[in-house]
Amino acid sequence: MDFATSENDGLGGTAEPWPELGPGPVAPVPTPIPVSLPGPLFRSEPAPLYRQLRREYGEVVPVLLDGGIPAWLVLGYRELHQVTSDPALFSRDSALWNQWPNIPADWPLLPVIGRKHPSVIGTVGERHRKRAAMVSAALEAVDPLELRGHAERFADELIDAVCGAGEADLVTQYAALLPVRVLAYLFGFPEEQGPGLVTALNDILDGQDRAMAAEAYVSTAMGRLVEERRRHPADDVVSRLLSNSNSHGFTVEEVTHDVTVMLAAGHQPTADWIGNSLRLMLTDDRFAASLFGGRSSVAEAMNEVLWEDAPIQNAAGRWTTRDTRLAGHALRAGDLIVLGLQGANSDPRVRTHGSALTGGNNAHFSFSHGEHRCPFPAQELAEVIARTGIEVVLDRLPDIDLAVPPESLTRRTSPWLRGLVGLPVHFTPTPARAP
Ligand code: HEM
Repeated sequence: MDFATSENDGLGGTAEPWPELGPGPVAPVPTPIPVSLPGPLFRSEPAPLYRQLRREYGEVVPVLLDGGIPAWLVLGYRELHQVTSDPALFSRDSALWNQWPNIPADWPLLPVIGRKHPSVIGTVGERHRKRAAMVSAALEAVDPLELRGHAERFADELIDAVCGAGEADLVTQYAALLPVRVLAYLFGFPEEQGPGLVTALNDILDGQDRAMAAEAYVSTAMGRLVEERRRHPADDVVSRLLSNSNSHGFTVEEVTHDVTVMLAAGHQPTADWIGNSLRLMLTDDRFAASLFGGRSSVAEAMNEVLWEDAPIQNAAGRWTTRDTRLAGHALRAGDLIVLGLQGANSDPRVRTHGSALTGGNNAHFSFSHGEHRCPFPAQELAEVIARTGIEVVLDRLPDIDLAVPPESLTRRTSPWLRGLVGLPVHFTPTPARAP
């Protein structure tokens, strides 16, 4: 790709009102004008941005990542389906990237788009199929009823810590602490290590000065757990992975990478699913019933969030294995494709009724699609943890209300994940349940 660069990086460099995008597409192939993916508009309310990009560029948009690195953002539902369904042409192998010579060693996106991810995420072909099947089998064996019981127990503990105060932040004091606690337990970590892992994972996600030490902490704890389970297998995810790894030809080190990825990839989106759903229920009258015990509307709110407010709004990525064309654009071998999951969810060709509720339709892209999609048992795990987390809030704090105006709620600064910085609520104080 050879994008012209502009002083203000297209959309990303400026705030509202919309900056000029320049002339519209020139038939037959539009001249690409760069759009900065890390720009502020992707962080706040991207829906109008997706509409405008679609009008100006169509379903595939040339974007610039940090440092002016070019990529293609796929917003079209049909085009995203095409990309995620064809791993021979659109590979998960980042080593194919034609931009590596331009990537500095301190490029801020290296944790998101690394050279070669040593886990299931960066594995391709037949070896990936085996590895993904092994991961799925280890997660599938988790009993949903037991899972619900553990999620409820940890959720109750968190509510006990705040219920007497009459006010709480349901993101920082609740959603951000719950999924990692449940996942750590399922993986086989001793309970007393749960709180330490919660802190470490949130420090990593914060990306501030404690991030490096936190990463070392998680990796050491994971290494120890794997070693312990190698010697003393138990009924948990790590033991199941280890017991299958030999026959499938995977090393202990590879298993360690896979469980680390599951903890990291599983926690934050599930936390954001909880936070984004609670926000919807607290701010949108159509879901008000859910606050008074309407269980079906909890499921509806959660599904609505997957369509409208996806926890992973953009995912990197796929790399073209040869020169090809996509939605009229000429892509070169080794180009990076960013999966515009939220963009595809809002494609007017599938969302023909605009803001109409999606009901039980789950044909969204929020868990991606194809061989590298979020494994089905992982999706189910996330669903049970998130739904239990939301239901415990509604059971324990039945009269919660937002403590701030809805428009003051802000999003974390990420073009990839979409979640709230905080969700302050108030409620009638109630006593803790735990002895
Ligand atoms: C709301 C919660 C979650 C969301 C929205 C989500 C979404 C995603 C997405 C978009 C991908 C990338 C797919 C791609 O590149 O095409 C992915 C991959 C993955 N997710 Fe999830 N995920 C969630 C929870 C979880 C949980 C709880 C786990 C595990 C415990 C998990 C494990 C994985 C794994 C292992 C992959 C890599 C699959 C592969 O490359 O074969 N996810 N997820």
